[in-house]
Amino acid sequence: MPSDTPYEKFRPLFTRRVKLHIPGPVEVSEKTFRAFCSPMIGHRGQEFKDLYGKIQPQLQRLFYTQQLVFLSTSSAWGVMEGALRNLVSRKVLNCMCGAFSDKWFEVSERCGKDAEALQVPWGSPIRADEVDKKLAGGRFDALTLIHNETSTGVMSPLAEIAALKKKYADVMFIVDAVSSLSATKIEFDALGIDVLMAGTQKALALPPGMAVFVCSPAALAKAATIQDRGY
Ligand SMILES: Cc1ncc(COP(=O)(O)O)c(C=O)c1O
Repeated sequence: MPSDTPYEKFRPLFTRRVKLHIPGPVEVSEKTFRAFCSPMIGHRGQEFKDLYGKIQPQLQRLFYTQQLVFLSTSSAWGVMEGALRNLVSRKVLNCMCGAFSDKWFEVSERCGKDAEALQVPWGSPIRADEVDKKLAGGRFDALTLIHNETSTGVMSPLAEIAALKKKYADVMFIVDAVSSLSATKIEFDALGIDVLMAGTQKALALPPGMAVFVCSPAALAKAATIQDRGY
């Protein structure tokens, strides 16, 4: 690459980097670093449309879905809050087993949603039979689950919990896979869940501040009926 490209000017920053030993952000590759040194394009122009169109099939492969994969110019919390505001009209069940999943409950309440906690001790996973019991007894229309609770490193059995969707078809299953998407195979269409999201800064090894997510057709239809969901 010629030495006067933007990347070459920033190369010393890349080579002097400090290795991050946290779940995320993780180190970005030189290829990613180079891409961030590309000249700006208009975010409403054809160039962006072409770029988004080009990466869409790869995003769909990542999520194992035929649905459109959205990019959010927010960190994962933006999508988490958006999912609650768009999909909860009665009551949400927040499955809680650590710092991030506990925070879903706080976000639900701050969004003015009627929320109930399914709290298990930190270090334990969420179990399908406990979710089943709660859903059977409540008037829930949504649940939130973190697949891999980053704060404790515990992964909950997503396939078993997602299987409950057949029994509770009207409940929107909102799943945070911030620290598991692409580290483990998560087949969105086959699971039959309604929202699956991830931040970019963990297993995707991109910088923080963006999120990727996919919604079921049922979730999009329900969102269209919700009052005061924001823009
Ligand atoms: C499981 C989980 N959910 C949500 C978040 C919040 O993500 P963000 O910082 O991208 O908003 C994190 C961040 O570490 C996380 O690990």
